[in-house]
Amino acid sequence: MRNIEKPIDKTLEDLGVTQPDEVATLFAEVRNEFDLDADKEYIEVLWKEFRDSWLGRKSGVLAHITNNWLKPASPTLKPAVGAALNELRAHVEAEVERRRVAIEQKEEQWALSGALYDLSLPGVQRPIGSHHLIRQVFQQIEDIFVSIGFSVVEGPEIETPYYNFEALNIPEFHPVRDDMDTFYLDLPKGAPTPLLLRTHTSPMQIRTMEKRQPPVRVIVPGKVYRRDNPDATHSFIFHQVEGLAVDSDITFCDFTGTIEYFVKQFFGPGVKTRFRPSYFPFTEPSVEFDVSCIFCGGSGTSPGSGTCSKCKGAGWIELFGAGMVDPAVYGFVNYDPKRVSGFAFGMGIDRLAMLKYQIDDIQVFFQNDVRFLKQFP
Ligand code: PHE
Repeated sequence: MRNIEKPIDKTLEDLGVTQPDEVATLFAEVRNEFDLDADKEYIEVLWKEFRDSWLGRKSGVLAHITNNWLKPASPTLKPAVGAALNELRAHVEAEVERRRVAIEQKEEQWALSGALYDLSLPGVQRPIGSHHLIRQVFQQIEDIFVSIGFSVVEGPEIETPYYNFEALNIPEFHPVRDDMDTFYLDLPKGAPTPLLLRTHTSPMQIRTMEKRQPPVRVIVPGKVYRRDNPDATHSFIFHQVEGLAVDSDITFCDFTGTIEYFVKQFFGPGVKTRFRPSYFPFTEPSVEFDVSCIFCGGSGTSPGSGTCSKCKGAGWIELFGAGMVDPAVYGFVNYDPKRVSGFAFGMGIDRLAMLKYQIDDIQVFFQNDVRFLKQFP
């Protein structure tokens, strides 16, 4: 094409062409150029360049010929130029198309023969995320409780002292508040009430009973906060599932039956459970709920080192706090303590997950290290 660039930039007159047979020679040269050019094009990108250099609407060779040879041609030459141009165009178009098909076939053959692509190479990996282990455990717990008639509710992480403490029968100077120190929000002067990050999911007991009349059966999964220094078993943010069942005839037996059912569903039928007396201002009686050690089967010993390191030889592991709802709490939500009774519990989810999946550092839940997360797809 290089050496025909010049002639196609000039008019026939400039080229000194006056006879139709000279026109034919000229076009034969162009066609020859084209055929040489066409032979070189063997991959798609180059084919496009090739196509445009010949057929491009503004600067393709055929456009130049139209503008420089055909349009200004003398009336005697015009028919010959027109005919030759049409013939050339037909030839170019047919050849360009033939090349396109040939390239396509060749690429397909290469691909199939493995010359150009190795079809056995892995494709681009697009990692698909999965639910965080804590979310998975929430889901397991929800499934168990939903199957026995509980519904799932959620509540605010920013709470007022009233819901987090007072309405749960924890007055302002009650010593139990020491265990539940938390973070307070900076509020403008004159704000109607201080705001804090809830220390437990128990405020949702109050919010639920304010809104619903008995029978109430809910569980409340969520995040809670305390001013704890981080170590292997403490974190200033962790997860709980609260449970609350209130009706006209709920007994301590309903309570123990429900909890035992849950624990056996969650850890497996082999585990044993027990209660120890405990204290919470919003339950009476209050209990601490233990499960037989999952690691040593409750024996307190381990084959290698003698004493089981997880339960420290006790054979039991503390699971969560619970109890029958203290009648004083009903006073805050306008339930009649003479007509209703119920139970409540609050489980630490991180702890349950650590026990079930044998994880010995709570911090891994918050570090989001994919090497950890990937172990629980
Ligand atoms: N809210 C208590 C805690 O976080 C647990 C609890 C809940 C105890 C419900 C009794 C009843 O420690």
